Amino acid sequence: MSTTYLDNKAREILRNNDLGDYTVPTHGLYPYQWNWDSAFAAIGFATFDLDRAWIELKTLMSGQWDSGMVPHIIFHEDDEGYFPGPGVWQTNQTPATSGITQPPVAAIFARTCFDVDPERGKPYLKEMFPKLLKWHRWFSDHRCESGAVAITHPWESGRDNAPDWDDAMANVDISDVGEYQRRDTAHIDADMRPSKIDYDRYLSLLYSSRDTAWDETLIRTNSAFRVADPGMTFILLRANRDLRDLGLALGESVEEIDTWIEQLEIGAATLWNDALGSYDSLDLLTGKFSNSISNASFFCWLAGIENEQMLALLREVLDGVKYGVPSHPASSNKFNAKRYWRGPTWIMSNTLVGMGLEKQGHTQLGDEIRKSSRQLIEQSGFHEYFDPIEGTGAGGADFTWTAAVWLGWINARKTESTNTNRTS
Ligand code: DGY
Repeated sequence: MSTTYLDNKAREILRNNDLGDYTVPTHGLYPYQWNWDSAFAAIGFATFDLDRAWIELKTLMSGQWDSGMVPHIIFHEDDEGYFPGPGVWQTNQTPATSGITQPPVAAIFARTCFDVDPERGKPYLKEMFPKLLKWHRWFSDHRCESGAVAITHPWESGRDNAPDWDDAMANVDISDVGEYQRRDTAHIDADMRPSKIDYDRYLSLLYSSRDTAWDETLIRTNSAFRVADPGMTFILLRANRDLRDLGLALGESVEEIDTWIEQLEIGAATLWNDALGSYDSLDLLTGKFSNSISNASFFCWLAGIENEQMLALLREVLDGVKYGVPSHPASSNKFNAKRYWRGPTWIMSNTLVGMGLEKQGHTQLGDEIRKSSRQLIEQSGFHEYFDPIEGTGAGGADFTWTAAVWLGWINARKTESTNTNRTS
């Protein structure tokens, strides 16, 4: 398959998933605007339609709450094909949204868009900078009590059923969850999705936070689940570094961001599990590490953190599969090559790992991950995720973020010149 064909196909996927001023991750399975999916879409659009890229981010920020939180789903138009929809979340927001957040990659990719053409980006950035700042402040005020970023629901991590959450989720009471009908398994093979017990627990956490009217203080006191996540922590740290540079480009004061960076550097260090030899999730209610290696552990370089042991561990994890980086190592007894975040390779995660490695000068490893990602797309298309042993596609097809990272990272170098200016 030629790169020209794949470039065209990736653009076609972005256009087909484009509902005007936001994209859906894929039609059917995810019919709304998802937070980090949308931010990834921006780096794809930025390679051929920079204004559309900024509009994607602008629409995402239109769902921001007064508190500063940017929700993980914005329900622009009701869709029966998804559960749990706005009627379940009951967040009382306009536009309707979920009540939890997602990894804050938006500032990282706003920086990518800005760097393509700072003059064209400035008006968009001026509008967006205070909103990004408010969101990052919300994280600092409400989620960084241990220094690292705490999540209140596995869906916030974006890595829904990763083994990282198994122990902490075992403490969630599901006795009041009752009957409900999942929609995801009507779209996708149930073996590739989270299990029924996972869903029961997801809903139990949703209901208990909903009972607080989405009050962050009450959620923190009452929730049965609060885990410090390396993925969120590394992403927010990098996002703050990028937000700082964006602020400087606008002539803004960045002192507050400097304090967040300092706190997150200290917080990230608390997630080092010496016994495991890896960054790891930490259950803030029990004080126990999950003892689970995930692809998000390898976002450390993205955050600007160097660690020799992590380099050796990444080599070992890559050697265990044909197409890395698996979301969980093949050597683990919890590894499942097809089930969502319990083994499959996610190319957007590869992008975060690869971008970090390249930025830190580990170009050979970065290239290796880029090459695997390229092979997966060449062989199997633009799927949501991939079996790391067989290389087959899994989950949703024609996926926005896979197409976006093809254009924005995997095959990025040759596409920049095709960018058109809407105003010219
Ligand atoms: C889902 O519905 O599968 C999502 O991951 C929740 O955001």
